[in-house]
Order: sequence, then C-alpha cells, then structure tokens
Amino acid sequence: MKRTRICQLLGIDYPIIQGGMTWVANAELAAAVSSAGALGIISPNAGMELEGDMVEHLRGQVRKAKSLTDKPFAVNLSAQFPEEDFRKLVGVLTGEGVRVVTVSAGSPARYTGLLKDAGLTVLHVIASVRHAKRAEAEGVDAVIAEGYEAGGHNGLDELPTMVLVPQVVDTVDIPVVAAGGIADARGVAAAFAVGAEGVQMGTRFVATHECVAHPKFKEGIVNASDTGTAVTGRRLGPSRVLKGEWVSKLMEVEAKGATAEELLVFIELGRSRKGELEGDPSDGEAYCGAIAGMINEIVSAADVVKSIVDGYSEVVARLR
Ligand SMILES: Cc1cc2nc3c(=O)[nH]c(=O)nc-3n(C[C@H](O)[C@H](O)[C@H](O)COP(=O)(O)O)c2cc1C
Repeated sequence: MKRTRICQLLGIDYPIIQGGMTWVANAELAAAVSSAGALGIISPNAGMELEGDMVEHLRGQVRKAKSLTDKPFAVNLSAQFPEEDFRKLVGVLTGEGVRVVTVSAGSPARYTGLLKDAGLTVLHVIASVRHAKRAEAEGVDAVIAEGYEAGGHNGLDELPTMVLVPQVVDTVDIPVVAAGGIADARGVAAAFAVGAEGVQMGTRFVATHECVAHPKFKEGIVNASDTGTAVTGRRLGPSRVLKGEWVSKLMEVEAKGATAEELLVFIELGRSRKGELEGDPSDGEAYCGAIAGMINEIVSAADVVKSIVDGYSEVVARLR
C-alpha cells in the first residue's frame, strides 16, 4: 500500500488510523492496531467507570498499551476539556512518551500551541474547509477531515466525506486524513482518489475482538442495515448513532420541538456509556457510522488492517 506523508509523520507502515472513540477506544484495541502497522488511538475514558479519574485511567491505559506493543500509538483529546484537566492529560502523554495526539470537538486555537510546545505531533479533526484552514494556520501537523457519515459527533454543516475531503485537500498544504464511511479497501482507494493521504476508521474497529465495547453494541453494528443509524441532537450538535429504543424516544422528543435545555435534561450524562459499554439500547445511545450496514462480522483488529492492505492492490488494479 502507498506510503504517504502520514506514514512518515506518524512512523507507521500503513496510512490507516483507528479513530479515538469515547468509552471504547481501549489500550488492547490501540495496541493491536499499532502492532498491525497502522496507528491505534486510546480515548482517555475507554472502559472507565462513569465517575472515574480520567487522568489516572489514561495513565493506566497508556502503560497497558506500551506493555502490548512497541509500535507508536496515539491518544485522542477533546478540545472541550477544561484547561486544567487538559494539561494533566498532556502531562500523562509527555511523561509516558506518547508522541502523537488527535484533537476533536473544538477550535484548534485553544490547545494547539500548548501541544506543540509539549513536543507533540498534532492531528486536528475538522468538518469544513474553514476549520481546516484555521487548523493549518494554528500549526497542526495534519487534519482529519471527518464527514457526516461518521459515527459520533458530526460537523454542524453536515458535509459528507466525498464532498469535504477533496475541497480540504485543495485548500491546505498539510496532509489530509479522510474519516467517515470507510470500512474496506474500496473506501480507502476512494479516499486516496480524492487526495487523502490517510484514512481514519471508527465503526469498523468497534466490531473487533479487542474493542472493549459491549457485545450487544458490536452485534448491533453487525446486524445494522444501510439505514441502521440516525443523526440526533441537531439542536445541541449532531451525532450519528445506532438506531435503538432510547434513540427512538430521543427522536420523538426532538420532533415535538424540545428546546436545547429540555434535550439536555433528557439526554443526561453517561447515555453513550450505557449504549456502548453497558450494551443497553433501551436506556442509552451508541455512536455508530452509517457504514455499519457493510460490516457483517466481528474480526480481530489485525484482520481489519490486513484485509484493507491486501485488498487495496486488487481494487487499484480493477481501476486500470
Ligand atoms: C463509538 C464511537 C465513538 C467515537 N468517539 C469519538 C471521540 O471521542 N473523539 C473523536 O474525535 N471521534 C470520535 N468518534 C469518531 C471516530 O474517531 C472516527 O473519526 C469515525 O468513527 C470515522 O467514521 P466511521 O465511523 O464511519 O468509521 C467516535 C466514533 C465512534 C464509532
């Protein structure tokens, strides 16, 4: 498979990234992805109790991953974290020798300087050309252009990956990683065709043996059809989730015109933990990409990477 600037930047063999995933991007998953030659990412709250100490939990996860692989892996941080917490989490990365961070859910103006001063390689998740330009100007090393197909929080402008990525590629000089709606070698080739130098996948990696997600969440992905996900929370910030009982109730409340305040009361803290770690679709939501309809089997993380690397040459040969 093509070696791109993303491989050089991250010190990996294949330009494939396992995205940060709240509650479920755990050390075992990240280590397995990295050992397979791609880049695994740990989320600070993966597998954690609702009221757990995220800083100590992340330290434990990073140490666990280091015990499982000698390959590089990264950590995903939210730009929404309060500064004191953010600084403590960065302290874990620098203290433990993690060199790469991905940042999402907020402005690159907030923490890029702090991260670069700490000597980290920074990839920022963006969902529009304007945000990509801003991220480049703030000094990030690469952008992850995430389309509206993706599991989890989506951009307010709801741009699909195939629309977003080529426009970002035409605008910035730094490498662009495509995210959203990619789960096999065809998706990777399509992303490269529109100028991406890497791909980030989330949903495909949830349905793996190593992921800490509840078996019911993984089954939900395997059983989902093309219309198995929905976008909720447009008044608060859209998120793509697996359809389920609680999500239907949320959509009813939204359709009746609930205000943002009413929705916040309804959603409460920890709904995504219930859906993703406790596997309770009657009481929680699980972030999930639209590509779930194409994922039919729970496999190992190494098999996900291998099938893409092996399949890529075939896909490209068919295009000739
Ligand atoms: C369960 C789940 C949780 C996610 N949580 C986060 C998160 O905490 N931070 C983040 O930057 N992206 C998050 N994402 C987005 C992924 O990192 C990735 O960009 C996205 O899943 C790619 O699209 P795909 O789902 O079509 O593969 C999440 C995705 C999923 C499926």
